[in-house]
Amino acid sequence: MSQLKVVLVGLGTRGRHWARVIAENPRARLIAGVDPSADSVSILREKLPMLDFPVLTFNEALALQPDLVVLSTPPSVHLEQITACAERGLPVLCEKPLALDFDTARACVEVAEKAGVLLGIGMNFRYLETTRAAREIIQGGRLGQVGFGRINYWRYRDGKRPLLNKYPLTMEQPMLLEQSIHHLDLARFIYGVEVKKLWARTTNPPWSMYRSDATVAAWLLFENRFELQYFGTWMGTNSKNEFQWRTDGSAGMLFQRDIFRGLEYWKAGAAEPEEIELAPQEDFVDDTRGLFDDFLKAVRGEPSTYPSGRDHLKTMVLTLGCAESSRQERMIDLLEYGRQLGMES
Ligand SMILES: NC(=O)c1ccc[n+]([C@@H]2O[C@H](COP(=O)([O-])OP(=O)(O)OC[C@H]3O[C@@H](n4cnc5c(N)ncnc54)[C@H](O)[C@@H]3O)[C@@H](O)[C@H]2O)c1
Repeated sequence: MSQLKVVLVGLGTRGRHWARVIAENPRARLIAGVDPSADSVSILREKLPMLDFPVLTFNEALALQPDLVVLSTPPSVHLEQITACAERGLPVLCEKPLALDFDTARACVEVAEKAGVLLGIGMNFRYLETTRAAREIIQGGRLGQVGFGRINYWRYRDGKRPLLNKYPLTMEQPMLLEQSIHHLDLARFIYGVEVKKLWARTTNPPWSMYRSDATVAAWLLFENRFELQYFGTWMGTNSKNEFQWRTDGSAGMLFQRDIFRGLEYWKAGAAEPEEIELAPQEDFVDDTRGLFDDFLKAVRGEPSTYPSGRDHLKTMVLTLGCAESSRQERMIDLLEYGRQLGMES
């Protein structure tokens, strides 16, 4: 089968994952990369010497007539780049968050829809083995009726570390828009139900290196009455990072010990867990491979469940709803908030 020609825009930290994933995919060919930063290009060349593709300007790369474009650039440039791709009829797989505000995110989706091009979003965590297994167990009914759950994410993220993107240090709501957005999207995906109401509080600890809030606490009520507590921070005091996700139902409990691995099923009343067998995965790479494979299927017109731009708007409403709840210091009805933003139900 012929390979799809891919242009990768943005060759920074995340772009290096993408460069490998695209170059190693037998159904794709990385024909060019784009990045105005000489530093990013030389780090990529140094870290991935086996990859040999030209680095061009955006217009030069699009002139090569790729079959699709992967955007691994900061959210501030996504709309402009998606618009340029849509004008040329090119499908786009764009990193999250699509934008930092709802109007811009919706404009990205509309420009792609109007041009009739596919727009996929970098929700690679949907393709983790842990996610797939948890979704199957919960939606397959092994927990019975789900009642309540909790996600805990504690991390010390040194935003000043070399090779880490710097815009989160000064942007509004960095934890929420850069990190919690993944967790909130996973909650929608794994439970298969939308959030109806939420209460949230975002704060910044006194020792934070981030200008805006690096901690998010939220309580989410789903349409099926399931309740989820969420706590996420980038400013844990030391490097002891934690991730746990627990879901309790009438027939059992599911406990995830880490974002990438470690899933236990506890049958109701059982004294010991059943360890769920998961295939080994390379963090951030195999999950991105899963996403990329799925998007390639969609581009080829094959059945696919890739996370679309339109679906991402729901995750954006949920994410921005947390900031809004915190700002207003009250519980938010998410349907109503979505309507205020101009989201069609
Ligand atoms: N899905 C994930 O797991 C995941 C992980 C990390 C980052 N991300 C996302 O990926 C995106 C990039 O993050 P990063 O960590 O690689 O940041 P980064 O700062 O390391 O890299 C971004 C690169 O984009 C380049 N760039 C900026 N403007 C450009 C333009 N107009 N045209 C071409 N290139 C341009 C920069 O020079 C830089 O090299 C962000 O949206 C981030 O949220 C996603």
